[in-house]
This record gives sequence, C-alpha cells and structure tokens, in this order.
Amino acid sequence: MAFTVFILQLAVRILSFPLYLLKFLGLWNQISKKWFPYYMMKFSATYNGQMAGKKQELFSKLQDFAGPSGKLSLLEVSSGTGTNFKFYPPGCRVTCVDPNPNFEKFLFKSIAENRHLQFERFLVAPGENMHQVADSSVDVVVCTTVLCSVENQEQMLREVCRVLRPGGAFFFIEHVADEHSTWNYCWQVVEPAWYLVFDGCYLTRESWKALERASFSKLKLQHIQPPLSCKVLRPHVYGYAVK
Ligand SMILES: C[S@@+](CC[C@H](N)C(=O)[O-])C[C@H]1O[C@@H](n2cnc3c(N)ncnc32)[C@H](O)[C@@H]1O
Repeated sequence: MAFTVFILQLAVRILSFPLYLLKFLGLWNQISKKWFPYYMMKFSATYNGQMAGKKQELFSKLQDFAGPSGKLSLLEVSSGTGTNFKFYPPGCRVTCVDPNPNFEKFLFKSIAENRHLQFERFLVAPGENMHQVADSSVDVVVCTTVLCSVENQEQMLREVCRVLRPGGAFFFIEHVADEHSTWNYCWQVVEPAWYLVFDGCYLTRESWKALERASFSKLKLQHIQPPLSCKVLRPHVYGYAVK
C-alpha cells in the first residue's frame, strides 16, 4: 500500500507541475483566492444538503452555552459564504472571521437571508491571529471544514481557547484522513493537486489529534463517514469541546 501511495503521489505531483509553477511565479494565489468563493457557494449548497442532519443535531446544542442574558455570542472562524447561518438560534450575535476578503459579498448575501441573526462584524484575519477579538469574549466558536486549511492548527486552537469565555464551547465539523489501510486513503493522496485547486485544503490531516492535544477541559468527538458524493471527503470528525 505504501508503495502504491508513493507512486500515485508522484504521478499527481508531475501532473500538477504547471499549477506549482504558477504558484512559484506568485500568480496562482490571486487566481485561487478569487475563484474559491464562487466554488464554495456551489459546493456548500450540496454539502449542506448532505450534512443537514448532522449540522442540525450538532448546532441544536449551541444555545446551551448562552450566557446569563440568554443571548448567544458566536464567533465563526472561516465563515466562508455564511453557509452555517441558517442553523444558528434566533437572536444569536454573530462575528465572522475569514482571511479571504473575496468571501465578503457572499457572506453579506447570507446575512441578508438570515434575518433571525444579529450580525456584528466581519474581520479579515487568519484563525491563527484573531487579535481583534478580545480574550474570553464569546460563548461559542464554530468551525466547519477549516482545520483542513489553516496553516497552523495548534495556534488556531490556542486562539479559539483565548477568545472563548470559561465554560464556552468550540463546535467543529471537519473532514479528515481516512484509515491508512483503506483504498480511500490511497485516493486522498491526490492531495498535492487538491491543495492547489481548493485553496490550501489538505485531505490527509488527522485533525482529531490537534483537538485532543488542545487545552480544552472536555472533548466530545465522533468519527463519522457521511454519505457525501465526493468519497475523499467522507471521513469526518465532529463534535464540540468545552474550555
Ligand atoms: C473549505 S472552506 C470552508 C468555509 C466554511 N467554513 C464552510 O463550511 O463553508 C475553508 C475556509 O478556510 C479559510 N481559511 C484558509 N486559511 C485559513 C486560515 N489560516 N485561518 C482561517 N481560515 C482560513 C478559507 O478562506 C475558507 O473560508
């Protein structure tokens, strides 16, 4: 299996050489940052359709973490097009962070369509450095399909812990590496090309390990294989962690 993986990966690297050349010349980033929000708009509709049950189940727990006023303050890291808004409880105060400013027009469209939320602000920042958000200032942080893309998972999770109030929670749904003995893992090694086309997304990250290492007091994490049409994205972890 290891040899097959090596050969496949080599083939993928050779085929994706033109894209790596564009990246080396500094041209690819501009292209991918512009086209990715359009792609996410289409992809999210399909993904939400296939994940609706899981999202509804998980996000139904959000309100349990509201402060004494009953109003939930929520920070969504890498909010993308705002695809999760419809799952948030009425009156929820939402702050969004994403390093790609090209998501803004899609995000504002979602805000206009989700009048049950109280939108606060959109910050253009990486998850690893959200210094505009004060320490212990939010009840919950949400991330969906984000740990696959951040440069430094440990640093992002440290930032999540910093901004959460004590007793607040981090909700996550993430696609991850499949078991190494499976054929699906073999296909996940298309990663070098995938990474470039899908704006820095890794398919073979074992993100549950970073969640287990982070300094949360409690972690509820489940491995699932939702019936997504794109098989390499099927292995997921989802759940929540309490500060
Ligand atoms: C696959 S998209 C997911 C978007 C959205 N969370 C969703 O579920 O549709 C990955 C997101 O991660 C963002 N991203 C990439 N690098 C990041 C970083 N270092 N910190 C925070 N977000 C990042 C991208 O801009 C993009 O919005």
